[in-house]
Amino acid sequence: MRVTSDKPLRGKTALITGGARRLGRASALAMAEAGADVAITFLHSAREAQHTVIDLSSFGVRAVALRCDVTDEKSVKSAIKETGRELGGLDILLNNAANYETVEFDKLTVKQWDAMFASNTRGPFLVSREALKLLRERRGKIINMGSLGGLRPWADHAHYCSSKAAVHMLTKVMAKALAPAIAVNCVAPGMIDLGEKAAAGFMKRMAKQTPMRRNGTGEEIATAVMFFATAPHFITGQIMAVDGGLGL
Ligand SMILES: NC(=O)c1ccc[n+]([C@@H]2O[C@H](COP(=O)([O-])OP(=O)(O)OC[C@H]3O[C@@H](n4cnc5c(N)ncnc54)[C@H](OP(=O)(O)O)[C@@H]3O)[C@@H](O)[C@H]2O)c1
Repeated sequence: MRVTSDKPLRGKTALITGGARRLGRASALAMAEAGADVAITFLHSAREAQHTVIDLSSFGVRAVALRCDVTDEKSVKSAIKETGRELGGLDILLNNAANYETVEFDKLTVKQWDAMFASNTRGPFLVSREALKLLRERRGKIINMGSLGGLRPWADHAHYCSSKAAVHMLTKVMAKALAPAIAVNCVAPGMIDLGEKAAAGFMKRMAKQTPMRRNGTGEEIATAVMFFATAPHFITGQIMAVDGGLGL
């Protein structure tokens, strides 16, 4: 008989990159609510990170915020070391930190292209590689944040879309390379409405084009992250679009 628990991550530890705000914060809160001790990283959002740590702690779990630039190898190494020290191990890594930018193809510079790949693709690779030792000790899990933009071409986002398509492939390669110790999966959000006033018109148009007739919420992305966080280890190498059918 399968017994379900209201704290399925009790006794587990999680690291969420870029977890101070928005979708990273939503996933961090879901994991803390499920009983996990949580480390979040931030780059510029120090104040938001402190608030998130307070909110995480309110679930009665251990929570810590670490500064980390995922484009910088030294910074990544020290954040992983600190995570091991603070949490005593690592069960779940959520590679969430990323950048998004709208640029017409003709105007896209090498600098913009390289910066996008440094954070969105090389970042998850670096953080995962450095976390391997800790994750192997716990038969852990890696969850990458991909994007519908990595599955469907968006004309003014060549660098972003390509960087996320690479994250989807990285997910599959790592799933094969790191098995049987570590399961690796990916959540690919579609249009997620985080309540930004500037995006309201765009969000309304996208909702009309979406089969589910609305955009997604941060909580729905966190639910998908929680699915992989609590899923059997036998589920690996999967890309789960959470997009209300927009990609169909
Ligand atoms: N929002 C959506 O609708 C949507 C749709 C599809 C996919 N996604 C993906 O889902 C994830 C979360 O989305 P989001 O909209 O919440 O992301 P976001 O706000 O654009 O970025 C998340 C965090 O990434 C951190 N970050 C950026 N560059 C970094 C670097 N070099 N080193 C370390 N941290 C860095 C930032 O931390 P600081 O604030 O501390 O600087 C930021 O708060 C991303 O991977 C995104 O691509 C989101």
